[in-house]
Amino acid sequence: MDLRHVIEAARAASSKAYAPYSSFRVGAAILTGSGAIHSGCNVENASYGLAICAERAAVTRMVNAAANANDRKIQFIAVVSPDATPCFPCGACRQVLHEFGCEEVVVLDASEDPVRYPFSEILPHAFGLEDL
Ligand code: THU
Repeated sequence: MDLRHVIEAARAASSKAYAPYSSFRVGAAILTGSGAIHSGCNVENASYGLAICAERAAVTRMVNAAANANDRKIQFIAVVSPDATPCFPCGACRQVLHEFGCEEVVVLDASEDPVRYPFSEILPHAFGLEDL
């Protein structure tokens, strides 16, 4: 799967963002272990704390579509914002991405070039299901 293809899915998702309060639009796209792409955008609310991040929106779509564990294994997630480069996942999203074995996070640098980070750099010493 072409990395650029996944990044473009994230970029397209960012154009759907519902962000009337922050005006900060984010799109995310996941490539799964089975080669599917699931995207999501941020969805804000008049009750500000209820905002849903793009990354978690994408995870929700992935889990809903999955038929087996490979369908919900995250090879990588690309995160794109027209309002910030790079745009890294927030702490809460990092934890949720860890739940589904995310191996890499891809963001765009100021030149719009992709930069790949191993997940162990994104969330070192993560707590997960293996700790229970
Ligand atoms: N947001 C995301 O969707 N993902 C990120 O990686 C960072 C933040 C959203 C949440 C909120 O709607 C807006 O960006 C400003 O925080």
